[in-house]
Amino acid sequence: MSADQERQDTKNSTAVDIDVSGIGDEACRRIAEATDLSELDALASEFLDKSSRLSQLKASMKDLEPEERKLLGARMNQTRGAIEAELAQRRSTLETEVIQARLSAESLDLTEYLGQTTAGHAHVVTRTWQELEDVFCGMGYNVETGPEVETDWFNFEALNLPPSHPARSMWDTLYLDTSDLDGVSDGQLVLRTHTSPVQIRTMLRAVRDGSGPPIYSVCPGRVYRRDTADATHLPVFHQIEGLVVDRGITMGDLAGTIETFVKQYFGSDMTSRLRPSYFPFTEPSAEFDISTPDGGWLEVGGCGMVHPNVLRSGGLDPNEWSGFAFGFGIDRLAKIRYGIKDLRAFMTNDIRFLEQF
Ligand code: PHE
Repeated sequence: MSADQERQDTKNSTAVDIDVSGIGDEACRRIAEATDLSELDALASEFLDKSSRLSQLKASMKDLEPEERKLLGARMNQTRGAIEAELAQRRSTLETEVIQARLSAESLDLTEYLGQTTAGHAHVVTRTWQELEDVFCGMGYNVETGPEVETDWFNFEALNLPPSHPARSMWDTLYLDTSDLDGVSDGQLVLRTHTSPVQIRTMLRAVRDGSGPPIYSVCPGRVYRRDTADATHLPVFHQIEGLVVDRGITMGDLAGTIETFVKQYFGSDMTSRLRPSYFPFTEPSAEFDISTPDGGWLEVGGCGMVHPNVLRSGGLDPNEWSGFAFGFGIDRLAKIRYGIKDLRAFMTNDIRFLEQF
């Protein structure tokens, strides 16, 4: 090979080289500048397709010396790889941008500007509930809870109300449809009609975990009755139950506890009285009333000495333990305290009513 010839070859191969890296540089620059995915697709075919400059160069390589062809081939593969990598990177950046754009376009502004900020507060029934808990906690009671869906056993039977006991009609009961539940026969599940089933749960739990008796507890909670809402009834309302089990508890303790509670909650000039009544789960039983400023009395709730059968249902020996229980409506108490005429006002969510408390 003459020196001339060699110079010529080197020149050729350098020219091709420059071309290859020029194509690579141009491709990478334009890919980096691409602003959307379709532009990127167009660039991919421009630089990598059969008709691309790289492919054409490759086709012209057949005229080169084997050594040179090898060198140039390696260069071309490298360039191709670089273009592909650049394409992939840009694609993922653009795809992320598309998703981001879509997310911000579809996002909902859920902040509401009210012009002025008004701080809300707990509903008057919730506040009454909390105040009652506070009063009883201050007297050394703890707070118990129970489920709103109860079994017939807890809601009635364990409370000395066997099936078909006539006093069951004291509560207009809502029964759950259990036809889909395996092993639960009809009429076995109820929406609890009072918080008294928590008496049983509290005793059983105390016996089981060895924490009592003595038991001094209150249970506030939601209860249900098949009633039509009117000024003095709600089908869903709230009660608070009290249960004390200890040695030597008497009716005097019950009367004193009610009187203390009434003075704490309504004020020291208020007083209470018990009137004989009947509940299957207490014996003797009473209703308790509070005095009104005009010298009258308002009925608040029921109470009495825990019936021996109820102590037994709770796993306790009535010869060793005695106790009292009481229960009353939280909504009704708030109604009395704030002079509300119609219980339904608690449920209608009229802000003008709620703001007053
Ligand atoms: N559970 C009774 C009711 O709902 C109230 C009550 C509770 C009476 C505890 C006596 C003892 O009417």
